[in-house]
Amino acid sequence: MKFSTFYFSGTGNTRWAVETFNAIISEKGHQAAMFSIDFGEKLSDERIQEIVREADCIGLANPIYGGDVPPIMKGFIDRLIAIRQPGQTEKKAFVINTFGYVNAFGPNEMEKLLAGSGLVQTAYVNIHLCNNVTSTKPDAKPFDQALLHKRMGQGKAELGRLADSLLSGKKRIKGHGPQTMIGTMIRKKVPEAIAGHYQTLGVHLETCNRCMVCVNNCPTGSIRFDGDGFTFLPGCTACMRCYNFCPTGSITMDGVYADPQQFPRYQGPME
Ligand SMILES: Cc1cc2nc3c(=O)[nH]c(=O)nc-3n(C[C@H](O)[C@H](O)[C@H](O)COP(=O)(O)O)c2cc1C
Ligand code: SF4
Ligand code: SF4
Repeated sequence: MKFSTFYFSGTGNTRWAVETFNAIISEKGHQAAMFSIDFGEKLSDERIQEIVREADCIGLANPIYGGDVPPIMKGFIDRLIAIRQPGQTEKKAFVINTFGYVNAFGPNEMEKLLAGSGLVQTAYVNIHLCNNVTSTKPDAKPFDQALLHKRMGQGKAELGRLADSLLSGKKRIKGHGPQTMIGTMIRKKVPEAIAGHYQTLGVHLETCNRCMVCVNNCPTGSIRFDGDGFTFLPGCTACMRCYNFCPTGSITMDGVYADPQQFPRYQGPME
């Protein structure tokens, strides 16, 4: 069988989950491919249609933001719906969500989003990894690497069960639970905060070395440099990539420069 996954990963957790899933599928003698939906990857409509056509099963993978799907993935699903061709047959789909503390999303919400896309969700799993929103509060707990490793082990086992279910044609819908009720509440408020996230970002020009890592790697192309300064644009999906991956730790939030010596950044899971 051939599995093709469209994924978004701000800081590496979701990419790790998809790579792990794909390795399991390959070990079992099947084909697995992954496609980033980042702005820079520039997947054309025709290419997306071709990927969907050629796969037996399509994956969608993303982190959970505020009990919801990040705007970039919502936009991608809207695009799948818009480019669906007349007569295009339905295709089985699986969903991998990663989260840091409480998922508060769940399979029912994803099923609603996928309506009209031609993808029929037959499997949904959520993988508990770690929070990528690093805090500059003085009492912020240091990042717990041991806990992340434990969760990666659990995640790998869950991704193995996902692979087994898909290969045997069985449904695997996980992630229902009381936490999804919290999601109903927070989903009403969080989109506004995420949409306004770009307004909180800035650059500490005294330490910035103008390397353009942030500009070139923003998944939504929402950072501009005009020679004098940086502008953050409304398309920002609040992924924390610019903040966590700036080599000099110069991205500010709410005007606060967080010295990277004092406030380590999160740069994805390390085996
Ligand atoms: C804007 C934002 C909102 C988030 N909201 C949630 C949330 O509601 N629940 C949760 O458990 N984790 C939340 N997280 C944490 C991420 O879901 C988690 O760290 C995820 O694994 C990151 O995946 P990535 O490294 O592939 O981007 C949030 C992260 C961001 C950046
Ligand atoms: S990644 Fe950091 S150092 Fe490089 S241009 Fe952006 S803010 Fe400046
Ligand atoms: S501006 Fe920063 S937080 Fe916003 S989408 Fe780009 S990299 Fe992510």
